[in-house]
Amino acid sequence: MSLPVILMLCVVTATVLGQPHARASDFYYSDISPVTDDKRFTNLYPEVELSEMNKVKHSKGNIVFTSGERISGDRLVVNHYDDESFATAVDIEVLMRYPAESSTGVTLTCIEIYVDTTASDAGGYLTRGGIGETIAEILLTSNGTRSFVYETFIYGY
Ligand SMILES: *[C@@H]1O[C@H](CO)[C@@H](O)[C@H](O)[C@H]1NC(C)=O
Repeated sequence: MSLPVILMLCVVTATVLGQPHARASDFYYSDISPVTDDKRFTNLYPEVELSEMNKVKHSKGNIVFTSGERISGDRLVVNHYDDESFATAVDIEVLMRYPAESSTGVTLTCIEIYVDTTASDAGGYLTRGGIGETIAEILLTSNGTRSFVYETFIYGY
């Protein structure tokens, strides 16, 4: 086989294996934002019921939130990382949503969020959708923190 043919096959294989990818536009996330009490999600949307994610604390401020579990045939649809530091301790919130807008048709199987905060605690909640559905909206909170780091993995089929 000639080199151009081999290269073309590689591109085709990579495209097929990788489909469908989370496009950037499939995933919405807010900045890691300081909140005052009247800006908290629960005050802005008092009608929304928060469902706590499973929470495992590995050490002070090192927390993993999960919902659902991997199944054979699912795949990673979102991998998102963000971090922020503040000059003084603040209460922060982050809101994420998959998909950002119109449905991708992906049924969600598992959500994992790794959090590192200088505060001793954090909260992880589903505010909409979740496992077995085609949408998930997730709220992360941490009170009195100087820095906040998280990485989100969402799987589905
Ligand atoms: C953060 O503080 C608010 C307001 O005092 C409280 O409602 C909320 O439960 C706290 N969140 C965490 C994760 O401790």
